[in-house]
Amino acid sequence: MVTKKIKTAVFISGNGSNLKNLIKFSRKKMSPITIVLVISNNKSAKGLKYAHHNMIEREKFNFKNIKTAEKKSLNILLKKKIKLICLAGFMKVLSKNFIKKFSGKIINIHPSLLPKFKGLNTHKRVLESKVKFSGCTVHYVSSKLDSGKIILQKKVKVKNNDTVNSLQKRILKEEYKIYPKAIMKILN
Ligand code: GRF
Repeated sequence: MVTKKIKTAVFISGNGSNLKNLIKFSRKKMSPITIVLVISNNKSAKGLKYAHHNMIEREKFNFKNIKTAEKKSLNILLKKKIKLICLAGFMKVLSKNFIKKFSGKIINIHPSLLPKFKGLNTHKRVLESKVKFSGCTVHYVSSKLDSGKIILQKKVKVKNNDTVNSLQKRILKEEYKIYPKAIMKILN
């Protein structure tokens, strides 16, 4: 049993299905984390609703001015004694300076088998390239996009008749499994 759970923040931009899954995981007895803060760069992110329903503090910062947004984020992260940041569909690139302040404490999930298919429109590029496998990766965040040390990966077969939608759905299911597993791996 975990005695003291690690205070965790989740950064989102949109749907928040990984956030929803992480909240569910965090409520389990064996989970080493408790999610106490959700930060979104998008005030209409659907994921903010999950935070609200679960009575988790939410903050919306406009990352168009990244310096100000990061400063505001940093203040609240320190105030709330956050020790782990999980990026879950967060569509902004954090600055080197911010990452340095949380060195080794920021992790991300990406819907491909990194180092393959870094960046946006992953599934579309996977289908166009006709590779047989894709997947998902949980990795530490470094100053280079989708390039930090890999924590965990899961391979997913690409089917002949896959569309962006069907592939995304199948990979998301695996994301929900590996994100909690990766957290257990680094914290236990
Ligand atoms: C996921 O596929 C994640 O790997 C990527 O963005 C997507 C976010 O989905 N970084 P959701 O907002 O968690 O539903």
